Amino acid sequence: MPATPVVLAVPGHEASVERLCARLAAEPGAALVRSFPDGELLVRIDTPVEGRDVVLVGSLDRPADKLLALLFLAETARDLGAARIGLVAPYLSFMRQDVRFNAGEGITSRYFGALVSRTVDWLVTVDPHLHRLRSLDAVYRIPTRIARSAPAIAAWIRDHVERPLLVGPDAESEQWVSAVADACGAPFQVLEKTRRGDRDVSVTAPDVRGHEARTPVLIDDIISTGRTMIEAVRQLAAARMAAPIVIGVHGVFADDALADLRAAGAAQIVTCNTLIHATNAICVWDAIAASTRGMLAP
Ligand code: R5P
Repeated sequence: MPATPVVLAVPGHEASVERLCARLAAEPGAALVRSFPDGELLVRIDTPVEGRDVVLVGSLDRPADKLLALLFLAETARDLGAARIGLVAPYLSFMRQDVRFNAGEGITSRYFGALVSRTVDWLVTVDPHLHRLRSLDAVYRIPTRIARSAPAIAAWIRDHVERPLLVGPDAESEQWVSAVADACGAPFQVLEKTRRGDRDVSVTAPDVRGHEARTPVLIDDIISTGRTMIEAVRQLAAARMAAPIVIGVHGVFADDALADLRAAGAAQIVTCNTLIHATNAICVWDAIAASTRGMLAP
């Protein structure tokens, strides 16, 4: 019988260890990642890992702060004899720079995927931003599994919204919006977005004919600056629809994004708990645990 897997937190994601261990036959592990006064890191794993699967868990938003800790934890586990090391990163960063948009730019999706693939043996994530890339295999060289948020989002909508009209703010969002629409039996439509800069976004008007009495529910994978959702909220207001409910799979919320989105007129802002945030209302950890179970030794 294989030894019980050990789950260790990427610093700041201790609650995620609890969530995973509550759903898997796995042991929460103890590890220390401490900054020295000069900013270098001390890493120590206190739980025995020799011969055991180790699962590192933590989202990779604000990746510059987390990457070295992740790398050192994985290397330390390997040095201490861990059998296989996996990463459960509910939010996977660097998925949007998947081409060279302007001359001289780096294709960071590819470099980040290569780095993570050298660091761990497998990866589980939730709805990564696959758009031009058809699959994670395009940038990751290790086995990967994707946990889907659509069933949990659909269940939340069924429980909380009467007569919803689901709206995706851009072409990429169709994959998530259509999956949620299928699961909760609601109509959906997808707008078109033009992005000219980080915070310079425009979105086309919705076609609300026949849907006037419905509650609009905007759904997208990532809310970062919030500009995409803000422009979609404004278009729905211009079409005289009720104030929309805004749902993001990954609530990154850069700077004042949350306040700006509220000020733009969102009736309610709800996210999945891939990133810990006050807007978390939809739990996707059953799906994450199911995908992780598939990666562990039987
Ligand atoms: C990209 O197309 C993504 O699906 C999101 O629409 C985008 O990342 C949202 O970014 P922001 O909140 O900065 O507009």
